[in-house]
Amino acid sequence: MPKVNTLRSKSKNKKDFNNKNLKAFITSARIIKRVKQLAKVINKDYKNRVPIFIGVLNGSFIFISDLVRAVKLDVEIDFLKLSSYGDSKISSGEVKLLKELNCQIEGRDIIIVEDIVDSGLSAKYIRNLVLQHRPNSLEFCTLLMKKGLSNLDFDIKYVGFEIENKFVVGYGLDYAQKYRNLKSIAVLKP
Ligand code: PRP
Repeated sequence: MPKVNTLRSKSKNKKDFNNKNLKAFITSARIIKRVKQLAKVINKDYKNRVPIFIGVLNGSFIFISDLVRAVKLDVEIDFLKLSSYGDSKISSGEVKLLKELNCQIEGRDIIIVEDIVDSGLSAKYIRNLVLQHRPNSLEFCTLLMKKGLSNLDFDIKYVGFEIENKFVVGYGLDYAQKYRNLKSIAVLKP
């Protein structure tokens, strides 16, 4: 029998960019698989509850949309917007709140959805902000987390991939607002 190259097997490891400044890092297939695994754990942990997923704009927009579609629970969704990086590769060290939450937090189960926890500054800021509104529970779900984050004094419960200190783009993550639409994650060469 001739080997049939299905669309699926063809696209599995194929780069979705042709750019010499980018190096393939996490394929789309690995991301999809990991999102499903995270969703499965969340389904179990939040059984019979209606969590509010709060996406941190802009970076989390693709991850949260895949995640909530993989989750088989009744959920609510809201967004907040912060900025710590602007168009730079290095965090300004200062977090600004650019869009407030619209939902009622009190007594609810909150899952903050991030594309990446890098220095942890944004996560700390969000945690303080949300806790002021007395949720029933608060957890973080991030697709990527930098290894060796020593200055976080709380757990990031749901982590897609722990990564080395590289500047990554794609699947929502940008450099100067570019590359967010890549299906995979790539390292931006210095
Ligand atoms: C990025 C990313 C996280 C945050 C993580 O956002 O989306 O929200 O930085 O970094 P930290 O752990 O060092 O705080 P950015 O400010 O670049 O905005 P964006 O999501 O619009 O890209």
